[in-house]
Amino acid sequence: MCGIVGYIGERQAQPILLNCLSHLEYRGYDSCGIAVSDGAVKVYKDAVRVAELKKTMPDFDGSLGIGHTRWATHGEPSRVNAHPHGDCQNEVSVVHNGIINNFLKLKQQLTSEGHTFVSETDSEVIPHLIEKYYAGDLEKAVERALADIEGSYAIIVMGYGENTLIAARKDSPLVIALGDRENYIASDVPAVLDYTSRVIYLEDGDIATVTAGGVSFRNGGKTAKRSEHKVDWSVEEARKGGYEHYMLKEIHEQPRVIRDTLGDWLPNGEPFEDLKKMSEDGTRTLLMLGCGTSYHAALVGKYIAQEMLGLPVRAELASEFNYHGRALPETLAVTLTQSGETADVLMAIKRLKDVGCRVMAITNVNGSSVSRLADHTIITRAGPEISVAATKSFLAQLMVLYWLMMSCARVEPKRQAEMVLQLRHMASRVTQVLDSEAEIAERAGYLAKYNDVFFIGRGINYPVALEGALKLKEISYVHAEGFAAGELKHGPFALLGREKPVIAVLTQDATHQTMLTSIREVKARGSPLMVLASEGDDSADSLADFTITVPRVDPLFSPVVNTVTLQLLAYHIARKRGCPVDFPKNLAKSVTVE
Ligand code: AGP
Repeated sequence: MCGIVGYIGERQAQPILLNCLSHLEYRGYDSCGIAVSDGAVKVYKDAVRVAELKKTMPDFDGSLGIGHTRWATHGEPSRVNAHPHGDCQNEVSVVHNGIINNFLKLKQQLTSEGHTFVSETDSEVIPHLIEKYYAGDLEKAVERALADIEGSYAIIVMGYGENTLIAARKDSPLVIALGDRENYIASDVPAVLDYTSRVIYLEDGDIATVTAGGVSFRNGGKTAKRSEHKVDWSVEEARKGGYEHYMLKEIHEQPRVIRDTLGDWLPNGEPFEDLKKMSEDGTRTLLMLGCGTSYHAALVGKYIAQEMLGLPVRAELASEFNYHGRALPETLAVTLTQSGETADVLMAIKRLKDVGCRVMAITNVNGSSVSRLADHTIITRAGPEISVAATKSFLAQLMVLYWLMMSCARVEPKRQAEMVLQLRHMASRVTQVLDSEAEIAERAGYLAKYNDVFFIGRGINYPVALEGALKLKEISYVHAEGFAAGELKHGPFALLGREKPVIAVLTQDATHQTMLTSIREVKARGSPLMVLASEGDDSADSLADFTITVPRVDPLFSPVVNTVTLQLLAYHIARKRGCPVDFPKNLAKSVTVE
């Protein structure tokens, strides 16, 4: 997803902007560029990585500037489509993240008024609109231009020799970071952590005027006040810390994440009361929502809630819910999103609130759009997740779900005590998995030659099969699919054979026997077979080509150890295939468009 940055201060803007952009690379991009002003705007951009841009670009003098990493939506990745974009006279320069829905209409109108466009992007209409409305005041021109725009945006504008940056947002994240006689603007906090940890999050509709000495806000034509937050992520937390890839570092951080998330978070407050009430009188419905990996956490949450609360629970993809989903006002919705900026989830929350539902958000980013929209927010303690593939944020989401449901559980005190004990030991169980990385990497070597891999699981490990497949496909480009094991015979059997390995997640719960049946069926159809089995369970040994042993835990908690095993498997397959693990092609960390 596009990333934007801005700097205004007393230092040279160019190296600062390039550094900030390099910390936004994790969002995924295909081209990049910067513009610097010393009164006149100078632009350099190309369809290259930030490091390449840095090598080739000339030195631009100037202490204010803007930068952009582009994730193509309108027009191919190319120099001309890269940002910043300018007006006809090159007096104004704009970087944009988002999508302008009515850009074609605006472009036609502006063209008929004499404006010349050079790119295929929707974003280019913004500088032309500003040019059209500029009458000596950049902020006013931006405000007027934005009134014409339908869609989503986070923008930074500079130009006309004014010593200010104008920033604005609607449905796309944007943060202002405060320094000493200098200020920064960025799509995301990791971009600016080298310089400051004091941030202000823009609200939807905000227009901020940023100078070296201060920031002022307007919203809906009126002055607005925004409060400052302190970011408690260290620079080190946001960097690789000696690992070859962010993904591997983030996988290895999971024992710490579990401890922090459980240790930090104590159930209290109204939403827990809502859940408690639901579990007592059963009059409300619980709806869990998310996208991608966060949707898989929602699915696991559904199984946890059904077992602990004894209630029927729905888990839905936010992107589907937005068009076809129905919820009654008495529904309690639990929305999961690592970034807190996923457009589909934001839309779902708005839709749920419109019908009067209470919405709880579980997110990793304090101050994110979702956290500001939900009735109640629980912040996971994963720390910054840079790799596009979600790993530690997923585990942190699971920890919150376990705690949340346990705090309202309708189970015997003995069972409750057992579950608390399981959770207390979860970090060391994950460490056990990490200790077996060499064995998992060896298995990965065997699987790396295949181009199709299937994952099967049942019950609470069905979402784990989906997550294993998602992880593998997104970082290794291997075609991977997850199935509920019982569904194999309803179609996927047709695909099995020597070239189609199957990874089966076997758990010692009520599904154990039927899973063994599925494993036999797979074996009979000739697919290479790898089984994840609990310590001491040798029931599939004679059938499997390989077994990976995972620590024995209560089956309810088995998604934790199984997922970490599959994360490592996916990582090592991708590494062996020489894939760019952290920044897979065509993907973005934070999906801020619908
Ligand atoms: C996970 O590995 C993916 N990159 C992706 O599916 C992600 O989980 C999804 O885009 C949702 O993101 P969110 O948790 O920030 O809402």
